Amino acid sequence: MNFHILTLFPDMILQGLSTSIIGRAAEKGLLSIEAVNIRDYTTNKHKKVDDYPYGGGAGMLMQAQPVYDAWKSIADRIGDKPRTVYLTPQGSVFKQNMAKNFAKERDLVLLCGHYEGIDERVLEEIVTDSVSIGDYVLTGGELPAMVLVDAVSRMVPGVLTNDESSLAESFEGGLLEYPQYSRPEEWRGKKVPEILLSGNHRKVEEWRREQSILRTMERRPDLLASAELTEKERKITDSVKDGKNAP
Ligand code: ADE
Repeated sequence: MNFHILTLFPDMILQGLSTSIIGRAAEKGLLSIEAVNIRDYTTNKHKKVDDYPYGGGAGMLMQAQPVYDAWKSIADRIGDKPRTVYLTPQGSVFKQNMAKNFAKERDLVLLCGHYEGIDERVLEEIVTDSVSIGDYVLTGGELPAMVLVDAVSRMVPGVLTNDESSLAESFEGGLLEYPQYSRPEEWRGKKVPEILLSGNHRKVEEWRREQSILRTMERRPDLLASAELTEKERKITDSVKDGKNAP
């Protein structure tokens, strides 16, 4: 999986993604992360990449020309019209299934905006997907791009070790993860739930499943409608939701 990130702050991207699991995967050659500096493509003698918006209004806009030329340099190298994701609060809110879908691409171009945004004409020309990482406004698209690279990379086969890629993690099957405990058995008077010390794997799995469902009901009830539940589990959650006792 090759990420090509169009940005005015390449160091921020490369530093942020060079350590830990993503750095290790890049070293192994499972991923490549390239940051292309949009400023290198300006034809302006002062290396300016922004200008005032027509019609007035606050702030500056990134101009179409340097963004397009930086993108074209990547597209020409790849040889195709690449999937190009613009990070913007106006995009579709990023979800685990989008990460899985992006992970199927060979190349992904990410476009990071700054200032008050980017001239609409170049967006129309190059962007295939617009993605927001949540309903808040950041100063630029670099942190969102790094979030996307992290979430997509861990879906690429081989990036996570078997230990790291737990099937039961949050959002697998649309549920939140169950609570977990490590040594010691008692800490500040709090004991590890008895069942986890029992050695009975079937009971442990049942308890974890129940905890996942309870947690999702309490913390993210919005996820339940599309969660993968058995018929029996669905009946239980529906009856609790309706204020009845479990059948
Ligand atoms: N750029 C600024 N804020 C953003 C957000 N919430 N998501 C994606 N890109 C952004």
